[in-house]
Amino acid sequence: MKLCMIGTGYVGLVSGVCFSDLGNQVICVDKDIKKINKLKNGIIPIYEPGLEELVKKNTKNKRLSFSNDLKNSVKKSDIIFICVGTPTKKRGSSADLSQIYGVAKDLSKSINKFKIIITKSTVPVTTGDEIEKILSKKNLSKKFSVVSNPEFLREGEAIRDFIFPDRVIVGSNDKRSNKILKNLYSPLIAKGAKYVHTSRRAAELIKYASNAFLATKITFINEIANLCEKININIDDISIGMGLDQRIGSRFLRAGPAYGGSCFPKDTKAITSTGDKFHTNLSVIKSVIRSNENRSKLLLNRVYKILNNKIRNKTISFLGVTFKANTDDMRDSSSLVMIPDLSKRGAIIKYYDPTGYKKEFEKLSNVSFADSLIKCLDKTDLVIIHTEWNDFKSLDFKKLNKNKKIIIFDMRNLYSPQKMTKKNIKYLSVGRGSK
Ligand code: UGA
Repeated sequence: MKLCMIGTGYVGLVSGVCFSDLGNQVICVDKDIKKINKLKNGIIPIYEPGLEELVKKNTKNKRLSFSNDLKNSVKKSDIIFICVGTPTKKRGSSADLSQIYGVAKDLSKSINKFKIIITKSTVPVTTGDEIEKILSKKNLSKKFSVVSNPEFLREGEAIRDFIFPDRVIVGSNDKRSNKILKNLYSPLIAKGAKYVHTSRRAAELIKYASNAFLATKITFINEIANLCEKININIDDISIGMGLDQRIGSRFLRAGPAYGGSCFPKDTKAITSTGDKFHTNLSVIKSVIRSNENRSKLLLNRVYKILNNKIRNKTISFLGVTFKANTDDMRDSSSLVMIPDLSKRGAIIKYYDPTGYKKEFEKLSNVSFADSLIKCLDKTDLVIIHTEWNDFKSLDFKKLNKNKKIIIFDMRNLYSPQKMTKKNIKYLSVGRGSK
């Protein structure tokens, strides 16, 4: 099939590349000409394991191409995926849909024959209706069908998540586009993905409800971890014990820092805003947002306590600063709250991240990037394990920090407290006792 992906961010690029790998003819379009030129030369603008190889392979076999010419790319394609950003509006908590509607207007000038127009971006309920209205203004009736097909891939696991999804959700109000999309996804359905056809509005809401539910699950376990700390219970036992109940499930029950990234914080806000718009108080999600916003402060309080409230001139080493492992994405990472706070209080911060230097900290005083784990961990007072990269999972801390008695605050529970005690390392983690 001939596909056009509009927007080469995470969702557009990964799904475009994967669709081409499944044998489709795909043009990825972006108005950012620099990005397109880089992609044409095989340079990937995001860090995503495995993506570069797939781009090279499918560009070489001519199934995948990149362009900044929307009009021509749309003309050549039968299925158009809108994959542009829907960030939170500068004021309020609703989603800014200007990019989506901008694309819809461009499309209305480019449609020459029947096209399926799909929102893959996360868009609030009724966005599809609005796109339809924009296109209808140009007397294009019967020349298009607007469909919602949300994407559920995670950064860092994006290719695997695309190829082996738990489900494919297609929301369309007509049978024709449903049939075509079922065919497009047939290689994934053959491998076990469940295909679910719903109304367009339902598909739009499934995406937000899923992200809000996952954010709730994480926030729930984080609050239970707070309780475990007070009563000397290991949160990992609780996660295992709860997760084995198939009604609950074990995934997304890992306690840690506040959830971050480009999706959960924005989507939880946007769904509450949709609730308000339709006079429905989504109070559970509102309280999840509040709890998560408080979490970085709560973990910072533990840092102050570990250092006996003497932060000034203490050297603190952060292992990982992105919002989670296997990504270079800093958006809404809890390190963006913690590092500026500690720097303001006079700490000397060194950070190491497998994805390198971060410009987000360049204006802060006493914050520096260490280009190796050894440099980061040498002569430090406190090590904060902030993300769960494999690189951090079996470190010999005593060897790496020869000069001082080491204290570790493991925010991802990567190590066993018992083993650390045996090694005579002062070790603190999340939801595993109050020491
Ligand atoms: C999330 C969803 O998981 C995807 O299904 C969805 O497609 C995507 O948003 C999106 O809407 O585009 P992502 O933002 O890549 O994916 O990250 P996650 O792996 O879901 O992690 C989000 C946050 O939750 C991270 O800060 C992570 O550290 C945290 N987390 C996750 C936990 O603290 N505990 C867990 O058990 C799992």
